[in-house]
Amino acid sequence: MSIGKRRDSAEGNRRGQSEERVTKENKEIRLLFPTVVQESFIDDAAEVNRALLQAIYDIKAETPNGLPSSWSCTLYTTIESQNALHNLAPFRELAAYITGKANDFAKTLKVRLDDYPLEMRSMWVNVYGKGHSQEIHNHSNSVFSGVYYVKAPPGSPGLLIHGPMADTMVHMPVTEETLLNSTMGEISAEEGKLVMFRSWLKHSVKPSPIDEDRISIAVNFSC
Ligand SMILES: [Fe+2]
Repeated sequence: MSIGKRRDSAEGNRRGQSEERVTKENKEIRLLFPTVVQESFIDDAAEVNRALLQAIYDIKAETPNGLPSSWSCTLYTTIESQNALHNLAPFRELAAYITGKANDFAKTLKVRLDDYPLEMRSMWVNVYGKGHSQEIHNHSNSVFSGVYYVKAPPGSPGLLIHGPMADTMVHMPVTEETLLNSTMGEISAEEGKLVMFRSWLKHSVKPSPIDEDRISIAVNFSC
């Protein structure tokens, strides 16, 4: 392919038009509308998580399970019983870290943060015992969401990310699952890891097979 043809192809693609001259001679795979997920790790995770764990188990001891009645899964969650953890002292440092990373994520996506600053609207904790899971869902009335792992012993199920177009795709038999044909991806649960994603992105957690608790903190941002 000549440089001139490559430029023509790019211009045609921007206009949403096909370039017959290029496709006859070559093959190009273009990835359009990627699903963007950001991962990061907090410094001193062991120390941070030790303090968070104490606070979480204190909350769990005195706060009823806020599991929404519409959910068919089982776990301990404060999503409807205490979803303003970011206002409590033990969680403020984590909230500041997550807010910084949410802004990084927004900058990656070229969001006009000067006009539309992000605001953390909710933070809650999820405790998965053995057999506990989270059904497929997304987070309403928010723009960005995040999950931070406080406790994720070996064998902890990861965060399953469901492709935005999965419902509309006919999944053909394949010889290998790749980025080009998958409708789902899994992000491993690791202590100290923060995962940021757009709030409309559907996700779930498989039943936990381990005896120890798997604990995550979830957040929502609006602007
Ligand atoms: Fe979620």
